[in-house]
Amino acid sequence: MEAHEGRLNHANIPKRFIGARLSDFNNQIIKDIEKFITHTGWASLLVLGPVGTGKTHLGCAIAYEIAKTKTVLYTTLYAMSQKVMADMNDNSKKETYRYKGAEIFQKVGVLIIDEMGRSFTTDAEKNRLFDIINYRYENLLPTVILANKGKDELFHSIGEGVADRLRESMQGLVLTGKSWRK
Ligand SMILES: Nc1ncnc2c1ncn2[C@@H]1O[C@H](COP(=O)(O)OP(=O)(O)OP(=O)(O)O)[C@@H](O)[C@H]1O
Ligand SMILES: [Mg+2]
Repeated sequence: MEAHEGRLNHANIPKRFIGARLSDFNNQIIKDIEKFITHTGWASLLVLGPVGTGKTHLGCAIAYEIAKTKTVLYTTLYAMSQKVMADMNDNSKKETYRYKGAEIFQKVGVLIIDEMGRSFTTDAEKNRLFDIINYRYENLLPTVILANKGKDELFHSIGEGVADRLRESMQGLVLTGKSWRK
């Protein structure tokens, strides 16, 4: 199997967005994304915008591009939290394996977290997000964040430690216009 295709199969791109490509967006956005993709080392990309403006479409188009050269994983914050917390709470696992659920999110070449605006219900969830972002930060692994909240509100909801790391070497992009769904 071609390497690109193999990595795409593990990228968790939702069915609706499998055909999403960077070329669906304007030249400025394409340029900004290319800058992010070619950056080596720690970087984060924050994509904001109201409902239906194409954040998930863009996130999946980025995943398609990244998969040409690196491993990449698309997830919503909720799905990631569920997965990580399920492992944490699995008493059948030895203490040392409880944190395994977070590993894939920590170590993947580029992690794309959609619907980042959701508030956490427990401190444990917030701490696990910190573990993931901090690991990626320490190991110079890029992260893409997609959200439809304002930046201040978003940074407040994810916690200061996470927000501060993301802010360092952060590229921002705001999608505007009418919802594509209308
Ligand atoms: N540039 C584009 N070209 C073609 N179709 C697009 C483009 N951007 C978005 N779409 C389509 O429009 C619809 C809405 O886009 P998308 O789901 O990415 O919006 P969103 O910003 O993630 O919205 P929400 O905040 O509600 O999650 C989808 O069906 C998507 O495939
Ligand atoms: Mg979306």
